[in-house]
Amino acid sequence: MKRVFGVFGDPIEHSLSPAMHNAAFSALGMDCAYHAFRVGPEKLEKAILGAEAMGFGGLNLTVPLKETALKMDCVRPDPLAESIGAVNTIVFGKAGEVLGYNTDGLGARQALLESAVEIEGSRVVVAGAGGAARAIAFQLAADGAEIIIANRTEERAVELAEEISAARLSGKVKGTGLAGLKTLLREADVLINTTTLGMHPKTDSSVAVADDLHPDLTVFDIVYNPLETRLLKEAKAAGAKTVSGVLMLVYQGAEAFRLWTGIEPPVEIMKKTVLEALQA
Ligand code: ATR
Repeated sequence: MKRVFGVFGDPIEHSLSPAMHNAAFSALGMDCAYHAFRVGPEKLEKAILGAEAMGFGGLNLTVPLKETALKMDCVRPDPLAESIGAVNTIVFGKAGEVLGYNTDGLGARQALLESAVEIEGSRVVVAGAGGAARAIAFQLAADGAEIIIANRTEERAVELAEEISAARLSGKVKGTGLAGLKTLLREADVLINTTTLGMHPKTDSSVAVADDLHPDLTVFDIVYNPLETRLLKEAKAAGAKTVSGVLMLVYQGAEAFRLWTGIEPPVEIMKKTVLEALQA
């Protein structure tokens, strides 16, 4: 019988996960299907337990459910998801356990590694201090990067940096406002944009312009709609290396696929499928 997987969220109709995972299952000849389900926070517990009862192979959770899931009694988060404060992947154990993981930071790490960025010891500026920034900063601090979180609301950046520092990971973390970004970038190796600046429909906005950037910098924009954001255009104009947000989307999905199935996912097919969907 076909094994069913799914993503829960609201809104969910534009999710690229069904196309990406179904392409992976089909490429590997696996008798599995992945669907998107509109589920709000108030029905999340019922939906997760229902999926477990029906023998689902695994789940992804997206906006606005990731933080809610972490706090639910029925979900057992792993230590990384617990420190990030959010769950984006659910694995069902053989004895009915509901295990929670967060693969967003791993997706960002893999996107950087694939682009030949050395993470340990590198100076990374993370613009933004929301959910995505949390996942990325916790992961890269664990990998030994020196991180500065720069956020419009400075207080939020400082709080996040203190929280990560308290976890005593190998990399140092500081928080500051976004106003001094240009100065911070002079000494940085990597800039990661996790803010919504540049995302459709605000495609003209950018957290930095070419003049703020330099050729030794790697600029990673986790925004993938549009595919080439204004920030990535500015980075190219400055001669900086660019990393597309599509890679983070694909690698967080690939990591979830590995957790559910124990099988190596066909990442090139997943990437091609996502790119085709975004260009359609
Ligand atoms: P996500 O969970 O996707 O990371 P989020 O939690 O809503 O999203 O976070 C959005 C981030 O984009 C925040 O860091 C936000 O800054 P504030 O904490 O000051 O709100 C940032 N952001 C949104 N609009 C922005 C803007 N116009 N200029 C600068 N930063 C902005």
